[in-house]
Amino acid sequence: MAQTREEDKEPAMYQSDLSNVTLSPPRDYVAMLPAAIRVTMGLHPLDLAEWIEVDDRLPDELAEKRRLLAERRDDVLRIMPAAAAGARETLALLAEHLPRRYPQVYRQEGARLANRATGETWDLAADDLHPLELASRLVQEDLCLMGREDGDDRYRLTGACVCFPTRWRMPEKLGRSLNAIHEPVPHYDPALTSPMDRLFARLPVERPVWRLNVSILDSPALFQPGGHQRAAGEPPITAQNAGDSLWLRMERQTLRRLPQSGDILFTIRVYSRPLGALAGRPERAERLAAALRGVDAELAAYKGIEPVRTAAIAWLERAAGQAGGAA
Ligand code: HEM
Repeated sequence: MAQTREEDKEPAMYQSDLSNVTLSPPRDYVAMLPAAIRVTMGLHPLDLAEWIEVDDRLPDELAEKRRLLAERRDDVLRIMPAAAAGARETLALLAEHLPRRYPQVYRQEGARLANRATGETWDLAADDLHPLELASRLVQEDLCLMGREDGDDRYRLTGACVCFPTRWRMPEKLGRSLNAIHEPVPHYDPALTSPMDRLFARLPVERPVWRLNVSILDSPALFQPGGHQRAAGEPPITAQNAGDSLWLRMERQTLRRLPQSGDILFTIRVYSRPLGALAGRPERAERLAAALRGVDAELAAYKGIEPVRTAAIAWLERAAGQAGGAA
């Protein structure tokens, strides 16, 4: 095993180490809700110091990754030989970045990288874990590598560890081009086909980007390959209970070109909050209500918004009408 848990050897040490790590709450991307939910590029320049986000969900989310990698391995981890160089490069970049950006959490000691929030220590030089799997076990983000083979001008998904998908099945996408991956997305073709191909062909190493994706789901589960199927007996979602029954799920996605391999690394970080978190935030509630009203029928059906749209908007309109609280 490349990894040993300190608790297996020295429980007291593990405990005291953990209690010294103070992690901040997740960033509040609700403040960045778009005015409209549409199929757009929506790219922002990414400061590489903020490439990866670490917060107090780290221990739980890494534990969930461990569970999924053990119990649902084929659903969450797929790697083609073409991803080898990009995967090694990804791990090396993380091993360099994490201890520098989050020194309280990650410590590098020679070829070993310790995560003090989980008690894990990883041997970076060991070859029993694929570097893409090890990289994914370090951070809350899901990781996807897009590579191009000689003579092929299209980028394809060559390797991925996706434990927290928002209504898609990663294994179905392996080896596929950007266009084929996005085939179910309404309006992607033609709206985004050429801009995306241009972005991937030209993205400079030194100009990474990030974007947000917004969904409304009826479950906070991180692993939702097909969405949540409401079981018989579960109460229907209404204007009254939508605050506790629906979750605003925002994905922070980053794209950077890896300098050596030339592959593009796509990271996805999920932030999920109950709609009820917008109570007392009337401007945000109104903004989301307006965004939901404006989603066209085809996109709403694709995103699973249609069945809950009326209840969500009614709940948000009530929250928007309530006085008090900061927006
Ligand atoms: C600038 C880069 C990208 C843009 C602008 C983009 C845009 C989008 C949009 C608008 C959607 C619809 C999601 C929604 O509205 O809920 C989507 C879905 C998706 N994207 Fe991307 N995407 C980008 C990069 C990537 C990359 C690199 C991958 C590689 C894995 C990827 C994989 C997916 C998948 C799997 C879906 C769901 C498709 C399905 O329903 O089967 N995207 N993307």
